[in-house]
Amino acid sequence: MVESLFRDIKVCVFDAYGTLFDFNSAAERCRDALGDKTDELSALWRSKQLQYTWLRGLMGKHKPFREVTGDALDFALQTLEVGDPALRNRLMELYDRIEAFPEVPGVLRRLKQAGIATAILSNGSPDMLDAAVRHTGIGGDLDAVLSVEAVGVYKPHPSVYELAAREFGVPLSAISFQSSNAWDAVAAATFGMRVVWCNRYGQQRERLTAEPNVEVGALSALPEILGL
Ligand code: LAC
Repeated sequence: MVESLFRDIKVCVFDAYGTLFDFNSAAERCRDALGDKTDELSALWRSKQLQYTWLRGLMGKHKPFREVTGDALDFALQTLEVGDPALRNRLMELYDRIEAFPEVPGVLRRLKQAGIATAILSNGSPDMLDAAVRHTGIGGDLDAVLSVEAVGVYKPHPSVYELAAREFGVPLSAISFQSSNAWDAVAAATFGMRVVWCNRYGQQRERLTAEPNVEVGALSALPEILGL
């Protein structure tokens, strides 16, 4: 039974972008200006943002996620021939006023009420994560907001997942990691955490080093998996 793997969970650790926060919300709110390029811009922006984190990791050339996010946006805007500096600034500002997925506040509250510790573990720079947590109002139900800036390398480097383990000082088998990014879910499973893959975007499973323990469509399924 998969659920038995989740009976002794003490800490729930969440990926931020795509899992708690809807990265498409920034471009969506600029649909007036982006028109029929909105969806393509959002997808290319996200995919370049992730590629740049992996490439920088391999090259040993880390720089904060805010700058990487801006570089990826510039690439995407130029590719789609959108040359509007004011729109670029608006999109970056909207990343700080990103929206949470609808079930997120209620799920975090439920976990806290059950005595489970909660944390974000994200590529996001501390200032970006602070802004997103403030904007979405979920800070009261989070015990920690952990950024890769503490280790200077992006996911899926194991030292990132180690950050969460060190913060809470519990066995890896007592940590449940939630991510919508299949590769991030795989990396946490490889590291030894219990993993819930929140497959919001209907991705295919990765052929990599390990498998997530459970796949769900939204985080609302999490309390039941934990036996709450
Ligand atoms: C994060 C990215 C991977 O929040 O979504 O770490």
